[in-house]
Amino acid sequence: MNYTAKMLRDDALKGKNIVVTGGGSGLGKSMTKYFLELGAQVAITSRNLDKLKNTAKELEEATGGTCLPVQCDVRHYDQVEAMRDQVLASFGSVDILLNNAAGNFIAPTERLSANAFDTIIDIVLKGTKNCTLAFGKYWIDTKYTNTNVLNIVTTYAWTGSSYVVPSATAKAGVLALTRSLAVEWAKYGMRFNAIAPGPFPTKGAWDRLFPEELKDKFDMTKQVPLRRVGDHQELANLAAYLVSDFAAYVNGEVVTIDGGEWLQGAGQFNLFQDIPEHMWDQLEAMIKAKGKK
Ligand code: COA
Repeated sequence: MNYTAKMLRDDALKGKNIVVTGGGSGLGKSMTKYFLELGAQVAITSRNLDKLKNTAKELEEATGGTCLPVQCDVRHYDQVEAMRDQVLASFGSVDILLNNAAGNFIAPTERLSANAFDTIIDIVLKGTKNCTLAFGKYWIDTKYTNTNVLNIVTTYAWTGSSYVVPSATAKAGVLALTRSLAVEWAKYGMRFNAIAPGPFPTKGAWDRLFPEELKDKFDMTKQVPLRRVGDHQELANLAAYLVSDFAAYVNGEVVTIDGGEWLQGAGQFNLFQDIPEHMWDQLEAMIKAKGKK
């Protein structure tokens, strides 16, 4: 099975101008690369302009596309508006916003300062709100239609999760924002969707979240029914489809791509997968014997 193949036809995003927040590295970079390969022009944003410039150069060389690096801390609305205006000045229009920038601290909540908690809420929830408002209001004011916003959430947006409470809280808000505006702003020709990715290893976030000593202890593949982590191209395929016109009737959806990870944690009897085959024989015999009494 070749799950790393590229899914859409070559010109699927031709003529589309896309903004990817946090596009300088990790999953944002992988999605940006595929959007460029599909013919889109892409602006990537983050706080670190040098990193963005390197990424933009690398991706332009690899794809032959146009990638614009724009410095922006999504926590600050004035910076987001300035970023939007810079992209508009270069591209002329923006069709798609991918709210991908995120931050996360894995820690017992009582060890987090109020400022640490705020930092994650500000990047994830406020940052997504800032970008959504800046582009959404602009699209409404200019009557520019056939636009869409794709938000990156997580499966613990609806289950919650210990040790990543600021992130869970913020992502739950992003999910609510996605579903609310999918209805409210549909009349302005906007679609809103989200992706909830499971484990897709990235250099920066994973090294930060799982330092070397913890990597062996927490083998993420064991939590996934399909027994593997995701490949970046699989996520890029889904993102490209959702932002493309092929998904014109998909609105307000959150698509989980996690190999079944969250459901494995949720199903009451899923732990039974650890029972070996021979023990099932014994259990069956025991239960049948009881039934005959
Ligand atoms: N655990 C707990 N608290 C932490 C922390 C950690 N690993 N790292 C920083 N903090 C605290 C700081 O002590 C500070 O609180 P204080 O002022 O009360 O001391 C607060 O969080 C803000 O820290 P600071 O370093 O000033 O934040 P920043 O705004 O410069 O950067 C991030 C925060 C999240 C952007 C940065 O850590 C980062 O770039 N992370 C990589 C992106 C990422 O996390 N990706 C994962 C995506 S899921």
